[in-house]
Amino acid sequence: MQRQLPTVLISMRILGSASVAACLVATPAAAADAERGKAVFQTCAACHNDGANPLGPNLKGVYGRKSGALEDYRYSPAMMRANLVWDEPNLKSYIAYPQSRVKGNRMPFGGITDSKDIDDVVAFLKGYK
Ligand code: HEC
Repeated sequence: MQRQLPTVLISMRILGSASVAACLVATPAAAADAERGKAVFQTCAACHNDGANPLGPNLKGVYGRKSGALEDYRYSPAMMRANLVWDEPNLKSYIAYPQSRVKGNRMPFGGITDSKDIDDVVAFLKGYK
């Protein structure tokens, strides 16, 4: 019995440091990355851009704005009725499931499935002005 003790102690130390290392790795990977989000936004920019006649409403300043709020864009009745504020949870759920989040809206986009892409593009939108 006496002779087994050091082995137990050593394996506890290994397990302990492994979980500390896992935390250190997990934290930066989970943080949203606006730079990366800018690249993800290229998908959105096909419709959301500064062109003369873009398909979608301009998303500059969208973070914190009410849905359907731009005077110079003709939204669908569904988007006009949505009555959302584009905060982090609403943007994330809309980007993931545009059609079920705002039923009947006219954004011809299936949504993004990768949660890291969603986090990053929302981080980018927060600073998009
Ligand atoms: C193929 C074109 C297209 C793409 C791609 C697209 N959108 Fe849209 N988006 C639209 C259109 C059109 C609307 C207006 C919908 C309506 O009025 O029903 C819209 C509306 C929105 C709104 C509401 C804006 C407001 O002023 O209320 C947000 C937010 C939005 N899109 C985010 C995104 C993001 C983020 C992406 C990329 C991940 C994206 N969209 C990709 C066409 C697109």
